[in-house]
Amino acid sequence: MLINLSDKKKGEVIMKVVITIGGSIIIKEYNHQMFRDYANLLKELHKEHDIYVVVGGGKPARDYIKVARELDGGEANCDEIGISVTRINAKLLIMALGDDAYPVVPTNFNKAMEYATSNRIVVMGGSEPAHSTDAVGSILGEFVKADLIINLTSVDGLYDKDPNKYDDAKLYSEITASEMIDYLSDKDVKAGTYEFFDKTGAQMIKRSGIKTVIVNGNDPNNLLRAFNEDIGTHILPE
Ligand code: UTP
Repeated sequence: MLINLSDKKKGEVIMKVVITIGGSIIIKEYNHQMFRDYANLLKELHKEHDIYVVVGGGKPARDYIKVARELDGGEANCDEIGISVTRINAKLLIMALGDDAYPVVPTNFNKAMEYATSNRIVVMGGSEPAHSTDAVGSILGEFVKADLIINLTSVDGLYDKDPNKYDDAKLYSEITASEMIDYLSDKDVKAGTYEFFDKTGAQMIKRSGIKTVIVNGNDPNNLLRAFNEDIGTHILPE
């Protein structure tokens, strides 16, 4: 699974990479810093690879979804509110990337592929109701025939139990997509409640067979480490 960036030939794109960045990472604080830090790393990666980014909604999405739910908006409408927030976060990352990014957030996968013909980084948020941006990353990966999906989340990877509650929680270095689907089968699918990863995303990984790794995005440098080091949880497409 390890991919050595030094293997690249100068000027040659060696991989198509989909990178999903959890909203709880990029907009943990209401300031620009994480957008800047990630933009700098993405610009470096873009020199060698085709880069597609999917940005999550984080706390602002959950806050707005809470208000929508109090108004009895219905779950699909709550999802739409969440999607709108992911697109705001995507637009902020586009601003941080400047000319390296296509200036518009695609609202569907065909537009994402169309914008990619500009050879700029395409940054999207959500697509349609009933899943999270983890699934968007997996679906986009299938559309663009990605070589690798890197999912940046707020913990080190997938644990056997909640690492925020249990000191003895064990990190899986590898898990099959089928095991992950079982693991996620009893998890909530309501707007704003996708814990960790979503089942649609895992099903897509199983189907597409794309190499996927989940790493801790609180340290943006883990994005580069995911290429060169054996960190996080690798989801095997079985
Ligand atoms: P996120 O992908 O950010 O969900 O989308 P999340 O996993 O709950 O949050 P973080 O970012 O990891 O903390 C926010 C919400 O937007 C809706 C869902 O309701 C989701 O919980 N959403 C997002 C969709 O319905 N469809 C999408 O394609 C994306």
